[in-house]
Amino acid sequence: MKLAVVIGSTRENRVTPKEAKWIANTANKITDVEAEIVDLIDYQLPFFAEAVSPRYNPNRQIDQAVKMWLDKIAEFDAYIFITPEYNHSVPGVLKNAIDYLSSELNRKPAAVASHGSVGGARAAMHLKEILSESRAAVIPQAVAFSGLNDAVDEDGNLSEAFKANPYGPQAALDSMLTELKWYSDALANAR
Ligand SMILES: Cc1cc2nc3c(=O)[nH]c(=O)nc-3n(C[C@H](O)[C@H](O)[C@H](O)COP(=O)(O)O)c2cc1C
Repeated sequence: MKLAVVIGSTRENRVTPKEAKWIANTANKITDVEAEIVDLIDYQLPFFAEAVSPRYNPNRQIDQAVKMWLDKIAEFDAYIFITPEYNHSVPGVLKNAIDYLSSELNRKPAAVASHGSVGGARAAMHLKEILSESRAAVIPQAVAFSGLNDAVDEDGNLSEAFKANPYGPQAALDSMLTELKWYSDALANAR
């Protein structure tokens, strides 16, 4: 399974990248999983302003930054989008990046990871709907984290205390990855 871990924020001093590293590190320990972090900050997408919805526009004219984003997203079998919660939803930069997609997520599984004061739960609910409309097969399992900022270091290592908790974030992530791999294998076969 070629897995993208998409970082949903780009602001200065953001914390989402270290959580994404922890997710990617964990995924890369699973047999037959190759996880890569996809960081929106590397794409610098303009605000979406195309005249026609990408899904219904075969003659789409796109600039280089958009092409790079679409080509990158098309490479994967499965996705984890990790989003913080901004004003009870996803950051605008993440919604904007998804608005550019046409068929890149079609029939591929996507899982949502979120964080915020209530685990980013409201952003996660929105993101599931957004990804579903973008034709991803959004899996039921999701992970929602609170209070992880100090528990994960810059290299994505989770503290031992958090790791040891059988109902903690590591256990939740492990379980979601198992499910995502199952859906990825099943859907890859079907495609
Ligand atoms: C503009 C803005 C709005 C936010 N709104 C919420 C919110 O509605 N609910 C919440 O739990 N946290 C909210 N937060 C806190 C963020 O979820 C938290 O700072 C998180 O670490 C942001 O991720 P980032 O560091 O990758 O940007 C908000 C933060 C920002 C910058």
